[in-house]
Amino acid sequence: MMFNLNPYKEKLSTDYFGQTIQYYPKLDSTNTKAWELVSENTQNGTVVITDNQLKGRGRQSNKWISTPGKSLTFSVILYPNAPPNKINLYSLITGLAITDCLNEYDIQAKLKWPNDILINGKKAGGILCESKISGGVIKSMVIGIGLNVNERIEEFPEVIRKNVTSLMIENGKQYQIELLLTNILNHLEHRIKNKETNLQLLDWEKRCAHLNQTVTFRSGNENVTGVFIGLSSSGQAIIVINNKEVIFDSGEIVDIDY
Ligand code: BTN
Repeated sequence: MMFNLNPYKEKLSTDYFGQTIQYYPKLDSTNTKAWELVSENTQNGTVVITDNQLKGRGRQSNKWISTPGKSLTFSVILYPNAPPNKINLYSLITGLAITDCLNEYDIQAKLKWPNDILINGKKAGGILCESKISGGVIKSMVIGIGLNVNERIEEFPEVIRKNVTSLMIENGKQYQIELLLTNILNHLEHRIKNKETNLQLLDWEKRCAHLNQTVTFRSGNENVTGVFIGLSSSGQAIIVINNKEVIFDSGEIVDIDY
């Protein structure tokens, strides 16, 4: 399978995002490649995509495994020039853009803080947002997105099978990867241009898979249990633990107590 530029360009309605696209039949990691392009001052909104990502990186040093030709693995390069306290917002907004896209395909996806994409409680996608800060602003950012699209369940490693899914598993349909990419980029640029942060935070809470639910949360090496009550104005997680609101910048929800 080869990435086909025609359907992609036809539906792209952005000013910047994806107007420059670098396609590789295979690549270790689109995020790593994107950082190389940043060092060469590539254009704002440049997209790096591959059909076959060999060493996909996930959050917290996890690996991201994908089946060649069956999933969407790409990165977008941005030069935000925004204050560092906006970092979390970028990854939350990316999650929203992906769910905007999936909604158009009648897939009701939910978000797990900070930015996992869940369908029927299983992980269908993840986001790895990396940035370089200098002179007190976010100078450059690479947003990496992995979405399981046309995989069958047997194609996932056995140990993760009960926790993961793909669009095809959920809907029984094959999806055109190029069109999913265009659609996500259109929504992402639209949301990033939209400065009404409070409304976007509310949108995120509406699509959250665990709002007002008890969660087990891992922060550093410690697991804590509390009720996730929403987002702070900069997108941090607010969790009530022993009747006290605690704010987390990073960490991982390891379990949702449905
Ligand atoms: C996570 O859930 O831990 C985040 C996974 C992010 C995976 C994507 S795939 C495209 C991009 N390139 C990478 O090496 N990782 C991200």
